[in-house]
Amino acid sequence: MSSQTSLWLTEERGSFAVGPHAIPTPEAGEILVKVESAGLNPVDWKIQAHAFWVEHYPAILGNEGAGIVEAVGPDVTQFAKGERVLFQATMDNRKASFQQYVIVPAEIVGKIPSNISFDQAATLPVCIATTALSLYSPAPNGIGLRAPWDGGRGSFSGQPALVIGGATSVGQYAIQWAKLSGFSPIITTASLHNTALLKSTGATHVLDRGLSPSALSAEILKITSTPIKLVYDSVTAADAQQAGYDILAPGGHLILALEQSVKVKDGDNKTVFRVFGNIHPPHKRAFAAALFGHLTKYLADGDIIPNTVEVVPGGLNGVASGLQRLKDNLVSGRKLVVHPHETV
Ligand SMILES: NC(=O)c1ccc[n+]([C@@H]2O[C@H](COP(=O)([O-])OP(=O)(O)OC[C@H]3O[C@@H](n4cnc5c(N)ncnc54)[C@H](OP(=O)(O)O)[C@@H]3O)[C@@H](O)[C@H]2O)c1
Repeated sequence: MSSQTSLWLTEERGSFAVGPHAIPTPEAGEILVKVESAGLNPVDWKIQAHAFWVEHYPAILGNEGAGIVEAVGPDVTQFAKGERVLFQATMDNRKASFQQYVIVPAEIVGKIPSNISFDQAATLPVCIATTALSLYSPAPNGIGLRAPWDGGRGSFSGQPALVIGGATSVGQYAIQWAKLSGFSPIITTASLHNTALLKSTGATHVLDRGLSPSALSAEILKITSTPIKLVYDSVTAADAQQAGYDILAPGGHLILALEQSVKVKDGDNKTVFRVFGNIHPPHKRAFAAALFGHLTKYLADGDIIPNTVEVVPGGLNGVASGLQRLKDNLVSGRKLVVHPHETV
């Protein structure tokens, strides 16, 4: 078998079409994965709509997935054909995940424990890495808190954290890391129908995301008077971001998943950090290897729970409609995935 089906973005700002593509061969340090489930992310529709990061068309998109090791490169010893793995993909036609077979650098691949399905696993790689990097990696990739797997578990006991947009995939994983790090209370904003979901991830208080900045501050003060030194903004709407900055105490960190709109005031002693969650650049790989090395046990033990998942039917032909739903803000508290081998 030498050919597979891939989903091609035919041209800049163009449309998607499935078509054939040679199955790549893993080189030194790489593995070839049969993609059982590929996760959809907001960045995929943003690339289609705004044309960034991709230099050559036609291009394959898709930033994460889960599947079965099909072949390993000549020097790869840590994986064998048939193992179940999860991985972050990247913008390269050998390495993007909206296709049936993908090449991944072996050092940043995670093993999936038996209690986690491929669909659940495919919800993890982008946002679990984005949140872990920003919280636990030292500068320039993060704010450098001590990682739970490095002696930091529970070490922020009694310190409050605020996660803006807890129902996003980013937000759900930020809440879970905050819990593992010991932060308490963990306050988040969301549509209130997501309250039970977010409490199951570790949020102690779920506030309506429609509250005005002043009402949000007032509600938070009713919950805690301890200065808040960690605010994680997974939405970066201008109002919410400013509210997060204003609520943050001196000496604290505001982490942003997207662009910064807040104006930092001189002398405030507040750090604003914008994360880039791609773990493929060489300077992030050691951190990613440690993260994915420990993630298997966190998943097996239930310390990290994957996002609620929805499979979009049609295989790769479901990507376009799924991305449109993400763009239109029609997906709440769940992650969309597709099954590339069920492409119709
Ligand atoms: N920097 C990076 O490396 C990186 C990595 C991953 C993602 N991102 C970015 O981070 C953002 C989140 O990504 P994601 O994949 O986690 O998104 P997602 O899961 O698709 O987000 C959907 C959720 O957004 C929530 N939401 C929308 N507007 C909100 C608001 N004003 N306040 C609170 N919640 C709001 C909704 O919550 P309710 O259902 O509760 O209303 C909905 O459940 C995206 O912009 C994405 O591009 C950046």
